[in-house]
Amino acid sequence: MSFSRRAFVKTLGIGGAAALSSSYIPRAYDLPSFWTPTLLAQEGPLLLHNNENPLGPGDRVLNAIREHIAPDGATIGRYPFALTGGLARAIAQRFDVEPGNIIMGTGSTQALRTATQVYTSPTKALVTATPTYEECTQYAQLIGSAVVEVGLNENLELDLDEMAAAARGAGMVFLNNPNNPTATVHPEDAVNGFIDDVLTASPDTMILVDEAYHDYVTDPRHVSQIPHAVRNPKVMAARTFSKAHGMAGMRVGYMIAHEDTVRELSPWHSFNTMNTPGILGATISILDTQRLEEEAARNTEARQYTIDWFKNAGFDATDSQCNFIFVKTGMNAQEFRDGARENGVMVGRNFPPYQEEWARISIGTLEQMQQATEAFAKVLRVNATAAA
Ligand SMILES: Cc1ncc(COP(=O)(O)O)c(C=O)c1O
Repeated sequence: MSFSRRAFVKTLGIGGAAALSSSYIPRAYDLPSFWTPTLLAQEGPLLLHNNENPLGPGDRVLNAIREHIAPDGATIGRYPFALTGGLARAIAQRFDVEPGNIIMGTGSTQALRTATQVYTSPTKALVTATPTYEECTQYAQLIGSAVVEVGLNENLELDLDEMAAAARGAGMVFLNNPNNPTATVHPEDAVNGFIDDVLTASPDTMILVDEAYHDYVTDPRHVSQIPHAVRNPKVMAARTFSKAHGMAGMRVGYMIAHEDTVRELSPWHSFNTMNTPGILGATISILDTQRLEEEAARNTEARQYTIDWFKNAGFDATDSQCNFIFVKTGMNAQEFRDGARENGVMVGRNFPPYQEEWARISIGTLEQMQQATEAFAKVLRVNATAAA
């Protein structure tokens, strides 16, 4: 359907148009039915606000989905029960674990919520950082669990010592490594030390390590906690297909844990929430390590370009290990966001207490980042060419 922006504003009316102004981030259920994904991708601003993958999944994933649905779509009329076991086996093969170590769901969000539900309560707090990925925090608050938020250290890293101290008697600790929004990572020995400290002082506390951005890490000192999680019933490792796999729109994620932990969580976790394209795509994608390496390399190049651009322009940034960067623009995050939006780029929300000077910017393709930095130059009033 062809569609002009003027017609869109007219259809929405004044209130709707105002809602689309600079700071407005559309949520799926806000979008009018004619706002198609094509329109979002091709005619809208550059979407550098949700840490998404600008390319989507690889051809092998897309072809498998197309073949399954062709020729008449009848397979989509069936529940995907017969396919979920295949995904569990593929994940198990990839990480050399058993299907009984895996919990899958609609994005890792579902597993994060299940763990929060089972392991926190009004007397068994969630210990988390601030700022970090907020899903567990918000869900714990929703269900009435106690929440303890620990600030970052001066390097904008999770303060592992303070978090371990706060974890005594807690129900669950949420450790996002690398951390969203700061993009910083903790090396293997620091995370192992943290887990030892927590469990020595508080043996019943669960530790959930969210590794959503693991595939984008380039620091060789970082390792996954999946092997640890399989051995230790107190440790869980969450992963997602929404980032490096490029499947955020298909909503698939998983958590790997000891079989006893999976058994404890299972009654609270609906296993019937995933969809056929997502399951099929994830089954192919998890074993397509070549594509994953290509995607990581693509991101590293675009990330380095962007960080170099900011540094050359005189702005500090953390050492990003993710598909987003955290930059000290020196400008209020809302002002920076509004300015960027006016110049055709959407960037991340506020992350208190850093909203006065820091912004989170997701990494798109190299070409998109070249375009975005021109917009940032205007907002920050620097010379784009000198910074490049
Ligand atoms: C650290 C972290 N965990 C989990 C998620 C959500 O992932 P999913 O799409 O798998 O629900 C995000 C999304 O941005 C994230 O940043």
